[in-house]
Amino acid sequence: MIRALAVPVRSIRIAAVRSNMIENKEEYFKSLKRAGDYIVSHLNGRKVPEICLVLGSGLGPLTEICEKYFTLPYDEIPDFPCSTAPGHAGKLVCGSLSGKDVFMMSGRFHYYEGFPIEKIIFYVRVMKMIGVKMILLTNAAGGIRKDMVPPEFVAIEDHLSFYAESVLRGPNIDELGVRFPDQSNVYDKECIALLESCAKDLNISLTRGVYAYTKGPQYETPAEIRALRTLGADCVGMSTVPEAICANHMGMKVVAISCITNMAAGINDGPLSEKEVLDTAAAASDQSCALVKEFIKRLK
Ligand code: HPA
Repeated sequence: MIRALAVPVRSIRIAAVRSNMIENKEEYFKSLKRAGDYIVSHLNGRKVPEICLVLGSGLGPLTEICEKYFTLPYDEIPDFPCSTAPGHAGKLVCGSLSGKDVFMMSGRFHYYEGFPIEKIIFYVRVMKMIGVKMILLTNAAGGIRKDMVPPEFVAIEDHLSFYAESVLRGPNIDELGVRFPDQSNVYDKECIALLESCAKDLNISLTRGVYAYTKGPQYETPAEIRALRTLGADCVGMSTVPEAICANHMGMKVVAISCITNMAAGINDGPLSEKEVLDTAAAASDQSCALVKEFIKRLK
């Protein structure tokens, strides 16, 4: 005899469909607070840094050259996910860089790693809750504009992601931001201008551009790249936009830089590879670090 299910089928279905969502707001806030309190307890009375740097490929050396206050492996921070992506270390570093106190996320969380969407942006909400004002996101990206020559840099001025699941999907957390956040100015315009002047003075090739977000992990097809170009994209990558949407939702200042590590699919002959991305990011590492350091230095 088939035994009756204790849970009605309908509620199982709803739970499955909504598994990405925050079901219990109180518990969610508690988990944000637990993580935030743990981080703040390591500051030993110092003020909470106003800047959080998210280190994409090639920017790892910044954690070595800063004057370090503390390092926390992600698996030590309550409720933090652990990153699994190659080249992403998985630690939060706090220190002084170019004379300013910063948090550095060495390793981030990508959709393609399989995290529920709210885990990808958990740390952004923790940062906001403890008082961080600005998030500087860096990434490796494929160049879509045909005049690009890797490695060069893009100050992201807008993004495309309407075809990807939103990190804000599910019941809105009104305490964090509005249900339908405006996205007319996700990326801070003054900071883009500052990045341009830093790049010019450092003799680094940097243009403004639109970043197309793809969920990965597969690279795009040539047809997808042609479509993205038609839609107005200048470069493409698998990160940054979830965090940018989340930070914008909470009213944080958002700045984002792409290092173009390869030409996107179908532009040059030959396959795309992770090796090319990581090798080019490593070759551009001095420039990436110099640009970020100078930007932080000149920030008012
Ligand atoms: N596509 C997507 N993500 C990337 C690429 C690319 O060409 N290069 C680096 N990250």
